[in-house]
Amino acid sequence: MELSVIDLAPYLSANSAEAESAAAKLCSQVSGALKATGALLVRDPRCAAELNDRFIDLMERYFDMPPEFKRLQERPELRYQAGVLPEGVEVPRVLVDRAMQEELERVSDDAKPIIPKGPDNKCRYMWRIGARPLVTRFKELNSDPVIPEGFDEWKETMNSWGYKIISTVEVVAEMAAIGFGLPKDAFTSLMKQGPHKLAPTGSNLQVYGQEGTVLAGYHYDLNFLTIHGRSRFPGLNIWYRNGQKVEVKVPEGCLLIQAGKQIEYLTAGECSAGMHEVVVTRKTVEAIKLAVEQNRSLWRVSSTVSDIKPIPSTLHPTLVLFLSWQFYTVCILITNMFMSLTLLIF
Ligand SMILES: [Fe+2]
Repeated sequence: MELSVIDLAPYLSANSAEAESAAAKLCSQVSGALKATGALLVRDPRCAAELNDRFIDLMERYFDMPPEFKRLQERPELRYQAGVLPEGVEVPRVLVDRAMQEELERVSDDAKPIIPKGPDNKCRYMWRIGARPLVTRFKELNSDPVIPEGFDEWKETMNSWGYKIISTVEVVAEMAAIGFGLPKDAFTSLMKQGPHKLAPTGSNLQVYGQEGTVLAGYHYDLNFLTIHGRSRFPGLNIWYRNGQKVEVKVPEGCLLIQAGKQIEYLTAGECSAGMHEVVVTRKTVEAIKLAVEQNRSLWRVSSTVSDIKPIPSTLHPTLVLFLSWQFYTVCILITNMFMSLTLLIF
């Protein structure tokens, strides 16, 4: 099963009845892909590949700075929710979740992730995107941004790419809602003032470039949807709902969307959070060789954005329960009970 590639242009420009019916089909494809695979590839005409390149250039330059410089942007007192999060801090779920480990023992070898031996060999930069609530109990999620000294273009580059891809997530969320038969704003209305983060990861392939090295261990994301720009180095593996393991290749100009835990809760399990890992594969090693020949940076940057529902509100999975098979099962049971009663009476 291939990952669906969905062009958002017809949806964004639908202005006639015919175009709207074509756009409605696209919405069903979005919800269908999220249900079946937990992921999809989208092409958004508003997100030019050059913007992604400019963003990756900036992050490569930043991650390549000496450790003592990057330490100045660490904010452990904010649980690293702003500024740089150093490597060796994030612990992948598979290391600590016993049930997940037992489940993986039953998985065939070709669908198994590489089990890491410790925390992730990647660092990350946390940059908030979008409006924040005026009153919050979660200061670390809504704290002031951290700007590294000497990076004059930082704010403009981070915001221009961050806002672009957040708007892509919002359109995908809108299309998913329509595809599920819900009001258009069923999901997007819940995203307002969420602690969305542009959270690019950086893995130093000069140090961790050996085949089989785990850069980010097997896990799922806790947010609603995650969007990734195209990385210059392959290595991302995802798992479909049926357990199939897929090495993702993001085509030029495309963005990858993955389902997080919040959409799983909101859809009462219609979608499930997509498992994924980032490891050094044979293809990563080939890309490293090419980058060395071309004298390019060996930092693997992934331009991840986590789109999150605001913390203080409540998730209402029953909203979507009406769509789920469980609901139809309940309907059938009630109908059967009613018919049985009718037969008894007559
Ligand atoms: Fe992730």
